[in-house]
Amino acid sequence: MTFPMRGALPAALALFITWAAPSDQDRALLTANDPPPNGVWIDALDLTNAPIRRPRAGRGQTTPPPPLTFALGGTPYPHALPLLANTDLAIDLHGQATRFLADVGVDDERKDGQATVIFGVWVDGKKVADSSLMRSGEPPKRIAVDLTGARRLTLAVSDAGDGPRDDSADFGGAVIVMAPGAQRPSIAAPVAETKPAIAPSRTARPRINSPRVTGATPGRPFLFRIPASGDGPLTFTAKGLPAGLMLDPRTGIMTGSLKQASRTVVEVTAKGPAGSATGEITIVGGDDALALTPPLGWNSWNVWGGTVSDEKVRAAADALVKSGLAAQGYTYVNIDDAWEGPRTADGEITTNEKFPNMKALADYVHAQGLKIGIYSSPGPRTCQQRYAGSYQHEAQDAHSYATWGFDYLKYDWCSYTEIEPDRNNPAGLKKPYLVMRDILKTLDRDIVFSLCQYGWGNVWEWGNEVGGHLWRMTGDITDTWPSMAGIGFAQTGREKFAGPGGWNDTDMLVVGKVGWGRELRDSRLTANEQLTHISLWSLQAAPLLIGADLSQIDAFTVDLLGNSEVLAVNQDPLGRPAGRVSGDGWFEVWARPLADGTTAVGLFNRSPEAAPVVARWSDLKLTGAQPVRDLWQQKDLGTSSDQLTATVPRHGVVFVRIGRPRQ
Ligand code: GAL
Repeated sequence: MTFPMRGALPAALALFITWAAPSDQDRALLTANDPPPNGVWIDALDLTNAPIRRPRAGRGQTTPPPPLTFALGGTPYPHALPLLANTDLAIDLHGQATRFLADVGVDDERKDGQATVIFGVWVDGKKVADSSLMRSGEPPKRIAVDLTGARRLTLAVSDAGDGPRDDSADFGGAVIVMAPGAQRPSIAAPVAETKPAIAPSRTARPRINSPRVTGATPGRPFLFRIPASGDGPLTFTAKGLPAGLMLDPRTGIMTGSLKQASRTVVEVTAKGPAGSATGEITIVGGDDALALTPPLGWNSWNVWGGTVSDEKVRAAADALVKSGLAAQGYTYVNIDDAWEGPRTADGEITTNEKFPNMKALADYVHAQGLKIGIYSSPGPRTCQQRYAGSYQHEAQDAHSYATWGFDYLKYDWCSYTEIEPDRNNPAGLKKPYLVMRDILKTLDRDIVFSLCQYGWGNVWEWGNEVGGHLWRMTGDITDTWPSMAGIGFAQTGREKFAGPGGWNDTDMLVVGKVGWGRELRDSRLTANEQLTHISLWSLQAAPLLIGADLSQIDAFTVDLLGNSEVLAVNQDPLGRPAGRVSGDGWFEVWARPLADGTTAVGLFNRSPEAAPVVARWSDLKLTGAQPVRDLWQQKDLGTSSDQLTATVPRHGVVFVRIGRPRQ
């Protein structure tokens, strides 16, 4: 069987490649203990820092774990490159190699038929082989590439759209054959990336940003800070404010309480030394009119982990304002786990020594026009184990949160497993959320309800039904490409579950300085990967909760998080999240319709090398000449009539808005 090719090969490249039918001779070579003449096993190169599967010690085991063994389709391979999904390995060939050979597939250690991967091979920046989707249990496919004259070989594995966990991909027997007497190949240094140019978040002229719609229950406290940027001091006016609300002209903060169910379009104006801007904000009064667009804000976990404190939360609120991100719509300042103290004799939850006065903290955050969030578990303990969860104290806890002044609750399953051990019982999975939802309804405050229940069942199918305003789709994110891309690109098909009032939560952002309570570090995502992260989350209408130390935020991260045109996609009032319109595991196009009739489109390149990505009008349901605007650069790109082709950097994105806005 010849190895399947996708698309035509450029003529110059055809010289490099031979598509050999898997010969018995090659098979014997790939499953041998010793390399062929002039052959170098890739596992004989220095793989110390390579992204490969490594032996894992079992629980409580003290002796070193045995080395990995490899088998594909029942055949053992003494040598293999067990590359992790969503990673790649580049090898310097020094122009002296002749051939690369491997059998690729999911290792036989995956017996369940669930793992899916795609293998790809690049030579000098061009893709020369693609396995297309492979599942566990399938026989391996043979890759044979002529390397004559080639300098750089890059091997990559894609998770095929379902996340990288346990994918067990093997390049079995991966071998490079060199010319006689040639210099040995070596692991190549990563190619330096060009930092993408993005528009500044700050502009001198005033601008009304997003969100443009907000809601509250009549009779309950209302708080909304007009998201307006521009050189200050700004002064604010509003026309047509609904009864019960007032506006502070110096801060742009609206307070009060709505009198009745209503939908009011308010015209707001921000005036400053560099001009003035006017825009419309829709204020909805109604039962559960919360999270009409995805929450924007900050959460303590990815930066402070268990070391979160009153002081750090105040600093985050201050920095949201000072950095200009509050002016771009970031509103929630959310305390995650590790604020809890012991319960009193009558069961009231207290705070630990890091939080001397929750009410004062909430007042401090509210005074800046921001909202504040808290965290608990429906189980007896939170995920940090040593803190009390809300089990059997749900009403007491909810009342404490309301008394303190909280606006948002993240409710994290964790130890509720002790109460409901059956992961296949949907009623049991929903139960603790229904309990809390019914209590939240009775409070005198609006509280956004964030469900954190992943890995068991499909929370997105019932998150709305149990009163959630957002629900976690995944396990914890970390600041690596395999993690972030694994989560983001696995959301295909789930867009239909989210919309105004209930959002798919793909976890907190991993840009800026992160650390989970340990030493802080700059996110390990490259700049292009960070653009992919924010573009994908914006297209998918995911909550944008920053997980960084905002007091040390740098100019690039402010521009990344504070791009008004990107945020306008995330916060689009139509609330229709993007789905994937085309993709092959390396190149993906995601698109969402926007309220003004235009379409937001992301052209993503998950492959290890820069490449052209095409968005076809036929896939986007567009026809005719359409204007295209680059959102990161905030620049018009001209008009296209049947497709858009863009060269996209490794792991990067071109994020555009296509079409003429309806008047
Ligand atoms: C995890 C959750 C994280 C964080 C952590 C706190 O279960 O996914 O986002 O909240 O618990 O202990």
